[in-house]
Amino acid sequence: MDKHCENDDVLLLTDIVTQGEDDMLTIPECVEVDLEQSDFEDAAFEVADFVASPDDHKNEDGSEDGPEDKNDDKAEIKDGQIWAYLGVMGGAGVTSLAVQTAFELSALHKDKTVCLVDLDFERGDCAGYLDIMPSVNLDELNAAKGRMDADLAATFIGQYKKKFSVISSEGEMGGNDRVDTDALLGLLDCVCGMFDFVVLDIPPMWRPWTQAVIGAADKFALVTEMRVPALHRTKKLSAFISSAMSLPVEISILVNKYERRNLSHSVNIKDAGQVLGKADFGQICVDEETVRSAINCGKPAGKISPEARYTKSVRAHVHHWLGTEAKCEKAPISLFKRRPKYERRRERERKRA
Ligand SMILES: Nc1ncnc2c1ncn2[C@@H]1O[C@H](COP(=O)(O)OP(=O)(O)O)[C@@H](O)[C@H]1O
Ligand SMILES: [Mg+2]
Repeated sequence: MDKHCENDDVLLLTDIVTQGEDDMLTIPECVEVDLEQSDFEDAAFEVADFVASPDDHKNEDGSEDGPEDKNDDKAEIKDGQIWAYLGVMGGAGVTSLAVQTAFELSALHKDKTVCLVDLDFERGDCAGYLDIMPSVNLDELNAAKGRMDADLAATFIGQYKKKFSVISSEGEMGGNDRVDTDALLGLLDCVCGMFDFVVLDIPPMWRPWTQAVIGAADKFALVTEMRVPALHRTKKLSAFISSAMSLPVEISILVNKYERRNLSHSVNIKDAGQVLGKADFGQICVDEETVRSAINCGKPAGKISPEARYTKSVRAHVHHWLGTEAKCEKAPISLFKRRPKYERRRERERKRA
């Protein structure tokens, strides 16, 4: 190897990489790529230099693609709101809730984009609940580690309908252990820049990436049931998360399958508050029929039963987190009509007297 060229190897390669594509002509023959680790450490470029900036998405004339253009959601970098739901135990109803929440958000905000992300790589149900094909192959996701960008991320995103996207894996035994933390977080980072709302369905098993995912959420809820052991476990998990990480947001508790009727040996709101040690927790009502038919039809509950108790309950929760008021669809029932006949008769008699 020529001595002069050997000394300039790193500088020359740095120039080639940092200059535009047009400048990348043939490498002079004297450059033999024979670099050592220390050469890379000295080189004056970092990973951040290769990450797309907002200007990279602009057209040559400086304009940006309109929202209705092809792959429109990739065009601008968004600061998506992340809503995360973690089941305190399996079967709490997280997937049904995440699916319906994402559907409700996309129905309420037709101009906004929503992405539902199923983080259960073992037994994820989001794709099944929406009757679509899974969009993530675990080997491909892991292989994308360190080189994730918006274009690559787009290959892992499936579509339920326009402006309602879904990321869900094929699911395999041990998938939650096998998924590469960096690859997954890289994907989520990109996704947050591509959508207005990102709804996360987090499986109950604690994994190395769970903490990072929860830490990034703008809203975070533990989903539980109205059963004494479930409520005790919720309190413990909430205390564990609070002590393990300083969350910038409050941990919300959502009690799913809430039964308003007072059945014998059932837990009421007061009991639940006592076990949880707090009175302000949300409730999603029990409505087996609606949830079951939604799952079996492969559609969000709001699509098949927009006025069902479950749908309204999730809608109220969505409005609560959005900080907006739910619209009253029906005129309030006149109390007068509900009053028993004899009361009205007595009133008429009093007036006559
Ligand atoms: N609010 C509800 N009322 C009645 N049944 C529900 C409700 N939410 C969920 N379920 C039922 O609970 C079971 C588990 O739901 P799923 O959403 O898959 O929970 P998870 O994702 O937490 O395992 C399903 O059979 C579903 O029908
Ligand atoms: Mg689930």
